[in-house]
Amino acid sequence: MEFPKRTVTCGELRLENEGETVVLNGWVSTIRDMGGLIFIDLRDRYGITQLVVVPEQNPSLAERVKELKSEFVIWAKGCVRRRENPNPKLPTGLIEIELEDFGILNRSELPPFEISDSAEITEENRLRYRFLDLRRPSVQRRFIVRNEIYQIIHSYFHEHKFVEIETPFLTKSTPEGARDFLVPSRLHKGKFYALPQSPQLYKQILMISGFDRYVQIVKCFRDEDLRSDRQPEFTQIDLEMSFVTIEDIITITEGLFKRLWKEILGLDIETPFPRMSFNDAMTKFGSDKPDLRYGLQIVTLSNKLKDTNFRVFDEAIETGKIIAGINAKGCANFSRKQIDELTEFVQKLGCKGLIWMKYTNGEINSPIAKFLSQTAIETIKAEANLEDGDLLLIVADEWEKCYTTLGALRKEIAKKTGIIEKVRNKFSFLWVVDFPMFEFDPDEQRLVAKHHPFTSPKDEDMDILETEPLKVRAKAYDIVVNGEEIGGGSLRNYKPEVQERIFRLLKLSEEDIKVKFGFLLEALKYGAPPHGGIAIGLDRLVMTLTDTDNIRDVIAFPKTTSGLALMENCPTPVETKQLKELGIKLED
Ligand code: AMO
Ligand code: AMP
Repeated sequence: MEFPKRTVTCGELRLENEGETVVLNGWVSTIRDMGGLIFIDLRDRYGITQLVVVPEQNPSLAERVKELKSEFVIWAKGCVRRRENPNPKLPTGLIEIELEDFGILNRSELPPFEISDSAEITEENRLRYRFLDLRRPSVQRRFIVRNEIYQIIHSYFHEHKFVEIETPFLTKSTPEGARDFLVPSRLHKGKFYALPQSPQLYKQILMISGFDRYVQIVKCFRDEDLRSDRQPEFTQIDLEMSFVTIEDIITITEGLFKRLWKEILGLDIETPFPRMSFNDAMTKFGSDKPDLRYGLQIVTLSNKLKDTNFRVFDEAIETGKIIAGINAKGCANFSRKQIDELTEFVQKLGCKGLIWMKYTNGEINSPIAKFLSQTAIETIKAEANLEDGDLLLIVADEWEKCYTTLGALRKEIAKKTGIIEKVRNKFSFLWVVDFPMFEFDPDEQRLVAKHHPFTSPKDEDMDILETEPLKVRAKAYDIVVNGEEIGGGSLRNYKPEVQERIFRLLKLSEEDIKVKFGFLLEALKYGAPPHGGIAIGLDRLVMTLTDTDNIRDVIAFPKTTSGLALMENCPTPVETKQLKELGIKLED
């Protein structure tokens, strides 16, 4: 069908265009029939332009306009004129188009929700009718920013001599700690490809091949339980560099962040970013991704509290547990109910209880005050910097449970006291370093790699690798922005013998090592340069740069938290014939 093509978009006309005759193409957003005047808002991705018809002057056009409905696609021709009632909210709000002619390019059924930023739409409807949801300006805006981010990434890494290389999606499984999505092979029945959890091994191989600096904006696939910041398929900015130290990788990453914050948000951020050891992050903030926009630091009390005669404390100390607390500054006015809620909060996380201590008008008020000696109370006051009006909340438990619970409590207090709202527009960047190399997996009853098994242990811990593996720290680093892990990486094991020692510590049999990682070990034997890299979660980066807590806002066609695609409706069963070709039989 031939139709008058647009001469301008719906977002660009200004007062200086007054008097010009233009053609627009777009979607009918709203129609307001005021009797003497009919207004039509026409929308495309660039904006909204108001069309106006005066029935008295053009009765036949006014009659035809009556046929229009929301979301019809039209062309519209008319003359730009100054608006009598300007709309300061729209960039085109000073003008309107006096409609001369139009044509319907396509009709629309009545949409299930209004296509506007103010409409309240359930998440389910947004995903079910994603094609309509994506028409909404605020939704589109994030993808337009996402596109800007791609361009900046490409030019930044190109300037720094990185080579973009695609790695396969039909791969051999590379563990990153999640389950693999498997793809059955038709040509090799009974065998499977895995979709990559990351291009980790391929990028290391590219270093061995001499590419020296690799980058890729790449999809990764992980079959894990989903949350608001996780999707089964997501995108990484994946990079790897040869002949580098941690400093080189940190500098390149910080440079990218600096560029992004400047070009997307117009903000000058300070580099280098602060660094904190994993141990400090845990013991001071109760998290390996602390949000440093606010204080509420954790204080450890166990090493100062001996023989208090309070059963909970003494037992904790005897059994090697940690007693630690958070001074909720100025929260002594918390009601009994509020404290009970906090107690329930920590109990839900598996802690036995929460001890509280209020300090008001020079006096300590606490259910445990009567059990504690004056010296113990004075010690606690001094250690926790307890001042008049403060509320101290104490937990006694195993190291990890104690600190992570307090970390969660810290966030909860920040939320409840409105601290989080106050720091909303701030950014805090942090490198967390010196991660443990391994952790113990109680389900599998063996060590697992905290980052991944290709990470190099710190040189100074190499001699305790086999004897005290849980004390070994890794050359790994995470970048954290406002309490979210945005990226993580490490220097790698480029000596085959070190890589083999690690595989053995992870209780991989010689056979497993050969079958799963033989190709890597072989490649490492042919002159592997020292190398390392990082992967930044692009979706999480876009979330931060566009200020949303929901990863589905920055992915065009996301899955629900239960892994469903509601628009196209998948996963779906497949035909028996297809299964047969693949040699697969389903269990009932
Ligand atoms: P890692 O597993 O830490 O490292 O992943 C890097 C970053 O990817 C993002 N991310 C996710 N984003 C959305 N949904 C998910 N399910 C998801 N999982 C991870 C996070 C995370 O920080 N190969 C290594 C990197 C390396 O060592 O170079 C890796 O993948 O922001
Ligand atoms: P109990 O003697 O077990 O009733 O505990 C006395 C007080 O200490 C109660 O207020 C409990 O909630 C609290 N409490 C008990 N165990 C712990 C713990 N591990 N950490 C923090 N508080 C606890």
